[in-house]
Amino acid sequence: MAHQVTLQPSGHTFSVADGATILEAALDAGIHLPYGCKNGACGACKAKVLSGEVDLGIAQESALPAAERVAGMALLCCATPRSDLVIEVHEVATVGDIPVKTLPCRVQKLERVADDVMVIRLKLPTNERLQFLAGQYIEFLLPDGKRRAFSLANAPHADDLLELHVRRIPGGNFTEHVFTKMKEKDILRIEGPFGSFFLREDSAKPILLVAGGTGFAPIKGLIEHALHIGIRRPMQLYWGAKDRAGLYMNALAERWARENGIAYTPVLSEPDADWRGRTGLVHQAVLADHPDLSAFQAYVCGAPAMCEAAQRDFTAHGLPAEEFFADVFSYAPK
Ligand code: FES
Repeated sequence: MAHQVTLQPSGHTFSVADGATILEAALDAGIHLPYGCKNGACGACKAKVLSGEVDLGIAQESALPAAERVAGMALLCCATPRSDLVIEVHEVATVGDIPVKTLPCRVQKLERVADDVMVIRLKLPTNERLQFLAGQYIEFLLPDGKRRAFSLANAPHADDLLELHVRRIPGGNFTEHVFTKMKEKDILRIEGPFGSFFLREDSAKPILLVAGGTGFAPIKGLIEHALHIGIRRPMQLYWGAKDRAGLYMNALAERWARENGIAYTPVLSEPDADWRGRTGLVHQAVLADHPDLSAFQAYVCGAPAMCEAAQRDFTAHGLPAEEFFADVFSYAPK
């Protein structure tokens, strides 16, 4: 039987289905609660049960000592309700509330999805999860002290593996390494999450998502998150690339269009002769379809020139400046 949970002091409410943890249900409802390991081991999800009864689940003694149990504390990543509950918890209100972590990770899978695009999936240690907002990025900490930043392409709810889309930059040491030397099971170090490119969930405006090349990565994370939490706002995706190969997850975007009603417009700047779709610059395709952008919210990720042109031209076509979000660097190493 589902139980109702009310959070204090926010007053947010959500329902927890049988068998689900309180943390899972909150995240599914689009409520950002803090967490670390999702496994009862770190204590990051600790909260106080003000009324009602919970099953504490697999909470480990080190993370939730006996005295805290007596005081009504629970670890929300493993606690399940036995009745309706009121819980006092500090919700994640801004990106600054999410702790930045340095973690080892293992390359779980390397998938070359285009000549110059590699999808890397990273596995964290068993008792670690990276809390982040869809669209944020992480940095690799390299042995020579340098850092390389890549956007997270998975949504936070699907965090068994962290997904990155890496474009090969000719002469770029790290990306050359990814394409020529990196192997599955390699161990790397990452730090994150970073960045303020994430979905503003407190708006009702239709959402424009504009990706250039591997700028698709954080846009994918935003879309998968929005679908997971059931956002009802209309969404339109424009994905620009040089050629068809650059639309390296075209089938996924077409599936969103078919099954989830996300309008999808691929735009090629150097199409082959039998391309029947849109051509030219991706942000200009948006403007051709929407000469008045005053009602929209826009999320743009791609090369710096594309993001700058989009910001200039979208605002000139009525998009309020505060409704434009871009991460100009997240498509490639900073
Ligand atoms: S104890 Fe680590 S997230 Fe719950």
